Amino acid sequence: MRIYEAKDYEGMSRKAANIIAAQIVMKPDCVLGLATGSSPIGTYKRLIEGYENGDLDFSEVKSVNLDEYKGLSKENDQSYYYFMNEKLFRHVNIKPENTNLPDGLATDDDAECTRYDAVVAATGGIDLQLLGLGHNGHIGFNEPAQEYAKGTNCVALTQSTIDANSRLFEKAEDVPRFAYTMGVGTIMKARKILIIVSGADKAKIVRKAFFGPVTPEVPASILQFHNDVTIVGDEAALAEI
Ligand code: GLP
Repeated sequence: MRIYEAKDYEGMSRKAANIIAAQIVMKPDCVLGLATGSSPIGTYKRLIEGYENGDLDFSEVKSVNLDEYKGLSKENDQSYYYFMNEKLFRHVNIKPENTNLPDGLATDDDAECTRYDAVVAATGGIDLQLLGLGHNGHIGFNEPAQEYAKGTNCVALTQSTIDANSRLFEKAEDVPRFAYTMGVGTIMKARKILIIVSGADKAKIVRKAFFGPVTPEVPASILQFHNDVTIVGDEAALAEI
C-alpha cells in the first residue's frame, strides 16, 4: 500500500489526477472505474484541464462507475449519471457509449445486477479503480455487512450514509433508500486501486480501514489484501495514521 500525503484537498486532487493521467497515457484504451461524491470532484477538474491543454485524450478510454441510486432517472440532478456528465464526461472527449453506470430506473434488481456485471466483464476488467471512502468504511455503496458482496447488488443504504448524503438533497426524505453498487469482489479484481480521502471527518475511518482488522463490517478494510493500492489523502484525513 502506497500512501501519499497532500497538504489539502487541492493537493490531493492534483496527485490523484496525475495518477489517473499516467494510466491514460500508458494505456490509452484503459478501463477506468469511477466514483462520485465530493472527494473526486477536484480530481475530475484536473483531468478536464489535462484534456483542455492537450495532454490527455479520452477517445479510447472506457469507464464503469461504482454505483447509482435506485429510483433516480438520468435527468435527475442527484443521480450519479447526471453527476458524471456534469463533473467529467461532457467536458472531455470520452465517447458516451464507452461510459457505463447501473440503471437507476431498472425495476428488476436481479436482472440489472446481472446486466451490470456483464457490462464490467465485457470491458476486459478495470485497470484503475478510483474510490472514495464513506464514514462507515463503505466503498461504492457496499455498506457494513456480515459478508462481502461479490458482484453488483442492490443495497439498502444505512442511516449514516443517508444522513451524510442528505447534504446534497433538498430534504433528507429525498435521499433514495436503495442503490445499485458494484460488489467488493469486482472492486478487488481491479488491477490498481486509487483511494482518495480528504478532511478531518475521515481521519478515524482511514485508520480503522487501513490499519485495523479486515472485516466486512468495515468494507474498505479488504483493500489491505489488494496488491496495488494507492491512498492519496490530505493532512487532515491522514492525521491519525
Ligand atoms: C457516497 C458514494 C461513495 C463515496 C462516498 C464518500 O455514498 N456512494 O462512492 O465514495 O459516499 O463520499 P464523499 O467523497 O462525498 O465523502
